Amino acid sequence: MDNSITVRRMNFAIDKDMEKYWFGGNPLISTFFYALSGTFPDGERFFIDTVRHYRNNVKDPKLQQEIRAFIGQEAHHGKAHEDFNNALEAKGFPVNTVAAKAKALLDLARKRLKPQRQLAITVALEHVTATMAEHALRHPDLLEQMDPTFRKMIIWHAVEEIEHKAVAFDVFRECVDNEFLRRRVMFMTLLLFFGRAISFQRMLMRADNRRASLKEWWQAMKFFWGKDGLMRESIPHFLKAFKRGFHPEDIDQKPLIENWQQRYPDVAGLQTN
Ligand SMILES: [Fe+2]
Ligand SMILES: [Fe+2]
Repeated sequence: MDNSITVRRMNFAIDKDMEKYWFGGNPLISTFFYALSGTFPDGERFFIDTVRHYRNNVKDPKLQQEIRAFIGQEAHHGKAHEDFNNALEAKGFPVNTVAAKAKALLDLARKRLKPQRQLAITVALEHVTATMAEHALRHPDLLEQMDPTFRKMIIWHAVEEIEHKAVAFDVFRECVDNEFLRRRVMFMTLLLFFGRAISFQRMLMRADNRRASLKEWWQAMKFFWGKDGLMRESIPHFLKAFKRGFHPEDIDQKPLIENWQQRYPDVAGLQTN
């Protein structure tokens, strides 16, 4: 397979009557993803800005081309999440408040941190998104439990995250090349990202005022920490990135996105370009 990165325009028709808890009716798992969705619009903008800052320093023409595609993909992701966030807001979840809080945090990083450190944050978060994308695509049974429109968006986003997972990394390697900084920032970013995600999730749960049942807690425990659980599968991948000399392509995720159009024709059918 060639490593080309394709910018796809998608047409997701968001169903206003979608289920309130789009992950199998479970409020704990659903709000975790709503919290993440809240952080995405400005997160994606941050990724774009940090890579764009170094664009003119990149000599490799192939990487230049990849940067262009990376920017295109991330811009579309941000827009798609904005639309979903508005739909969730209409369901009573203050996801746009989450988005504003995430933006305030990222604005602080923009103001206070040097460009190389900002790019290292992007590198870390791109590893997080590619890892979560792998988990989603590895478990079609989980995808089946999602609201149909969300499911399609997650598949599209996951495919593209894996496609472009090394772009920010390669820019960092060409323009900054500081393993100590990369690994230190990775550690801080993981703590901050998951810490914030949990606090945003709690905020959404409080606003919803619905207590999860014991069964729902058990489902959520299994989803995150059980065998094949999101965190249980992701943590070993996070740890790999702390190895000196690590490269995102060391983790082979290509089989998961190869011929994805045949495996998910309903998602591929939404592409408009
Ligand atoms: Fe993205
Ligand atoms: Fe990305």
